[in-house]
Amino acid sequence: MAYTSAKLGLHTDLNYYNYKPGVQMLHCIEQTKGEGGDNSLVDGFNAAHQLKEENPDAFRLLTTLKVAFCHFGIDYQKYIHKQRQNIIRLNDHGEIQSISYSDPTRASILDMPADQVQPFYDALKAFNTIMYLPRNCVRLKMAAG
Ligand SMILES: [Fe+2]
Repeated sequence: MAYTSAKLGLHTDLNYYNYKPGVQMLHCIEQTKGEGGDNSLVDGFNAAHQLKEENPDAFRLLTTLKVAFCHFGIDYQKYIHKQRQNIIRLNDHGEIQSISYSDPTRASILDMPADQVQPFYDALKAFNTIMYLPRNCVRLKMAAG
């Protein structure tokens, strides 16, 4: 997705790893001179705090139900990376520790009780809606270099 001209929604990278880097640095080598190429950025921790305040049930579901993220391909040899995560992971003190959010790498099979599937998707939609609110989502177009 990242190497196409298709729109790429808000996401975190490397959700299929057990341990994700805390910081990722991106740079812009060349920028399109036409429409597009904008970045959308959101503070996922802030959005998760808002979800906790505004929709505690959704927050509870996203901190307790695990979903699988996977990535597979060939790079010298075949590989499969797969990791089950909470969308919002809490630490032992109940504080938000990390966000794992990516529709493109979230496995299509939800390994959870059937009666939790719709509430999970509703919770995910609620989180998505908060992240895309204009007050939370910054859009910018990087300059080359
Ligand atoms: Fe990414």
